[in-house]
Amino acid sequence: MLPGAPYLARGDDGELRLEGHSLRALAQRHGSPLYVYSRAAMRAALGAYQRALQGRRHLLCYAMKANSNLAVLQTFAQAGCGFDIVSGGELERVLAAGGDPARVVFSGVGKTRAEIRQALATGVRCFNIESRAELDRLNDEALALGRRAPVSLRVNPDVDAGTHPYISTGLKGNKFGIAHGDALAAYRHAASLPGLEVVGIDCHIGSQITQIEPYLDAAERVLDIVAEVEAAGIALAHIDFGGGLGITYADETPPPADRLIGALLERVDARGYGARELLFEPGRSLVGNAGVLLTEVQYLKPGAAGDASAKNFCIVDAAMNDLVRPAMYDAWMAIEPCALRDGPSAHWDIVGPVCESGDWLGRDRPLCVQPGDVLAVLSAGAYGMAMASNYNTRPRAAEILLDGERAHLVRERETVRELFAGERLIPD
Ligand code: LLP
Repeated sequence: MLPGAPYLARGDDGELRLEGHSLRALAQRHGSPLYVYSRAAMRAALGAYQRALQGRRHLLCYAMKANSNLAVLQTFAQAGCGFDIVSGGELERVLAAGGDPARVVFSGVGKTRAEIRQALATGVRCFNIESRAELDRLNDEALALGRRAPVSLRVNPDVDAGTHPYISTGLKGNKFGIAHGDALAAYRHAASLPGLEVVGIDCHIGSQITQIEPYLDAAERVLDIVAEVEAAGIALAHIDFGGGLGITYADETPPPADRLIGALLERVDARGYGARELLFEPGRSLVGNAGVLLTEVQYLKPGAAGDASAKNFCIVDAAMNDLVRPAMYDAWMAIEPCALRDGPSAHWDIVGPVCESGDWLGRDRPLCVQPGDVLAVLSAGAYGMAMASNYNTRPRAAEILLDGERAHLVRERETVRELFAGERLIPD
């Protein structure tokens, strides 16, 4: 089964379709590289969380760093979601997409004074605070504006999420959160500051997590802290369990969102906190398998004849600047031809035009391809376009959002002129 099924499917005619649209036809019409997302797939992924939380006081804050296209944000805002943001720029996007700032939680270890002022003025729901120094800064800024800032402390539960070290965030060696042993003292400090109002607790232990156990371990730790903090007379109105649920890229079998949430709710109920407002910050699991990156084969460069160890390179028009996950995390993402052709397949390294040996999208993939063919990199809806850059002066790809019969161009392809519009020559 293809990751992204049933929205992504290959027809009997061999054509790969997303939400019923031929991907090859979309690439022909809009050019490549091209990101294509299915709105129905995003809604279905969200539905699993919503179902599991029905009847509970809760807020799903889409972690928009995964895919921050305005039309994607609009989709989640219309479905009632809040947002987990990590910058002033993300806050502006939420507003531009029609999102409600009163449903925004502001995460991140390095909020600047300007970002704090912007978020206070906009009226975000909560600041997720990661250090004592940040508490003091927020207190100063809130007092200067004559406000009380709502705060949650992000605690670092020191559990191993069992994921790639670059995206593991809940271990004590990570820069994130307040060590669980220091949490009570930090809460006491927060409660003593007149510009702050303590409203909750949060954690986030990592990303692409494929097991339930790390979540349950983290939840137990967080609930221990809730008990300790409330025993000290500081009430916590909400508990935020963060995001991190993984998706299937290859053969991973992460729990479905409703099963994960169900297991967490059981623990929360057993500890007597079932009536609290519960927050979650899913990113990848809402959008990852709803999107693909389309790219056209430019050249085939087979290995030297007679050298069995030589590599075959399939050079495509997408590169590490369009999709950095393989280069950055050694991530394996499925690559499928948009139309099948008859003939023997060979093993190809799918590489881009960028001048780095790390510029690869897939290695050693059995494919039958010819120049001009369109390939789809699957599971590319999360941390794809959102991490794209302009390295090698490459304009970023266009984005399409499919919605039933319609295919909306939700981001135009960048032009080279736009890339250096802000640059200046100096006088001779
Ligand atoms: N909440 C916080 C505080 C986070 O730092 C993150 C992700 C999330 C929620 C959402 O996590 P998700 O549900 O998407 O796993 N670029 C990497 C992933 C980095 C994740 C950073 N934090 C990748 O491509 O795998």
